[in-house]
Amino acid sequence: MAIDRFVGSSYSQKLPSGSISWQSPSNIALVKYWGKYGEQLPMNSSISFTLKNSHTNTTMFFEPKSSSEFEFEVFLDGKRESSFEPKILKFFERIEKYIPFIRDYKFRIETSNSFPHSSGIASSASGMSALALCLVDMELQLRSTPDGSPSLSEADIQKASFLARLGSGSACRSLQGPIIVWGEHPEIEGSSNLYGTQYKFEVHEKFHNYQDTILLVDKGEKQVSSTVGHELMHDHPFAKQRFEQAGSNLSKLIPVLKNGDVSEFIKIVESEALSLHAMMMTSMPYFILMKPNTLEILNRIWAFREETGSKVCFTLDAGANVHVLYPEAEKESVLNFINTELSQFCKNNEFIVDEVGFGAVKK
Ligand code: DP6
Repeated sequence: MAIDRFVGSSYSQKLPSGSISWQSPSNIALVKYWGKYGEQLPMNSSISFTLKNSHTNTTMFFEPKSSSEFEFEVFLDGKRESSFEPKILKFFERIEKYIPFIRDYKFRIETSNSFPHSSGIASSASGMSALALCLVDMELQLRSTPDGSPSLSEADIQKASFLARLGSGSACRSLQGPIIVWGEHPEIEGSSNLYGTQYKFEVHEKFHNYQDTILLVDKGEKQVSSTVGHELMHDHPFAKQRFEQAGSNLSKLIPVLKNGDVSEFIKIVESEALSLHAMMMTSMPYFILMKPNTLEILNRIWAFREETGSKVCFTLDAGANVHVLYPEAEKESVLNFINTELSQFCKNNEFIVDEVGFGAVKK
């Protein structure tokens, strides 16, 4: 089975105490992942832009130990964050067979985000991706000779994406950039349910350095966790149609990305965002995750497009915040529009200016 190649073997050496640091970005899906089965496998293929400025920095300190329990502590911005620990424990349990050395070391995981913790931006994609990279990097050190400090190969990055997926599905799309596909798709060779892969088809220059300004409409705790949300797709009346729609939207996006047809891009991306929310509104129990200000922003984006011919559009995650997407050529005018018209609908007028990025970096 394809998965066997990720299973870890034993190591002949033990590392002394040390640390490894990685910075990994967040990503924004154009075609959404919503619904999973088995061990974190997606019910449909998804595609995302990797972001640049929204990222997590993680330093993983390790120290050899002899007891066989998992031992780790998590710190956010220098402060112990025990609320993260159950999620990390579950992650360690899931990845143990792929990274068998994790019981042999005590870990101190220090993490910080470039975006405020309370911004309503999920740090799980960037956080799990950074942690998976630290672990694969450590595995590489365990296998290397004392003088060699090899950098991660394509196969190592694939393994890190495979592990990140087991922490949080969308995290497997955060390691590289600028566009990543996750989930088998008949027209995308090499696409896999197990890890994210770089989108290798031609991309028109209009989509280079695409802009994403994240409007922070609601900074509160998520009303529905993504785990619960994904579960609601199991007995969902429209699940089958939704999974087919995602696959067909990804098919439609391939020529659109190639030809630079931004008008078609807008239709696919906005429809995906609204379909995601429609799934939540029609599940049992049902949720409305948009806020009045979310709707106000969407309507103003439509009106601005109508009036000015701009190619600005929106996408949404499982929350009230709005990702405003637009070509780099429109940066000045759209930022002006955001400042003058949209920022009033954000909590404390706050938004994050971001753009497409190229993936994680070792620090
Ligand atoms: C709406 O990756 O957060 O952002 O696998 O349970 O950790 P888990 O879910 P998560 O789901 C993200 C869903 C989404 C759409 C997307 O990013 O594709």
